[in-house]
Amino acid sequence: MTRLRVAALISGRGSNMAALVAAAANPDYPAEIALVLANVPGAGGLAVAAENGVATETLDHRSFADRAAFDVALDARLRDHQIEFVCLAGFMRLLTAGFVEKWRNRLLNIHPSLLPAYPGLDTHKRALADGVRVAGCTVHFVRAKMDVGPIVAQAAVPVLQGDDEDALAARVLKAEHVLYPQALRLVASGAATVDGEQVKFAKAPATPAILFNPPL
Ligand code: GAR
Repeated sequence: MTRLRVAALISGRGSNMAALVAAAANPDYPAEIALVLANVPGAGGLAVAAENGVATETLDHRSFADRAAFDVALDARLRDHQIEFVCLAGFMRLLTAGFVEKWRNRLLNIHPSLLPAYPGLDTHKRALADGVRVAGCTVHFVRAKMDVGPIVAQAAVPVLQGDDEDALAARVLKAEHVLYPQALRLVASGAATVDGEQVKFAKAPATPAILFNPPL
């Protein structure tokens, strides 16, 4: 089996990247994490990647004149490593429309909300302020507009009484670590494909249970 050569782009601790690396340690997984690239020098995830034998690169966005120049360098670095597919994993930087177009349908992102609800920052704070009973995370293909694009998979978690931002973020993050490897598996294996602005599945996934919160 040839495995899809994937780069994970990070800005910080990289726990989602680590979940992808762990999944790809299984030779049956249809993707390998061939590169971890950070736009922040010293990002915690870089050491984690190196410990796992994954090639790392740092591209400090502050040393580029503008977004376009950074994205051109990023694209060149990805090509140097023969990267075929990119996963944004806590990559807190907007990409230019030109870059997104070049990597169209070869670029995934994970976002800590049930999109299209709560795009952008402070997702958990806003969800708590609204009093929602269910929160979650989304893996989607990237389009030029932030946190928009064909949705591959979502996971829902309950919001519990007394939750603060940290408690909710931790519950969602745990779901992210399961969801992202699963979503990449679906895409890398060809089980999920983009059809216009929707994701289609080769085989209908098993019917999920309903999540009630509070329980009925
Ligand atoms: C994750 O919760 C991810 O969903 C979020 O940043 C965190 C990164 O954690 N991403 C975004 O908010 C992107 N809009 P990690 O570095 O431990 O994976």
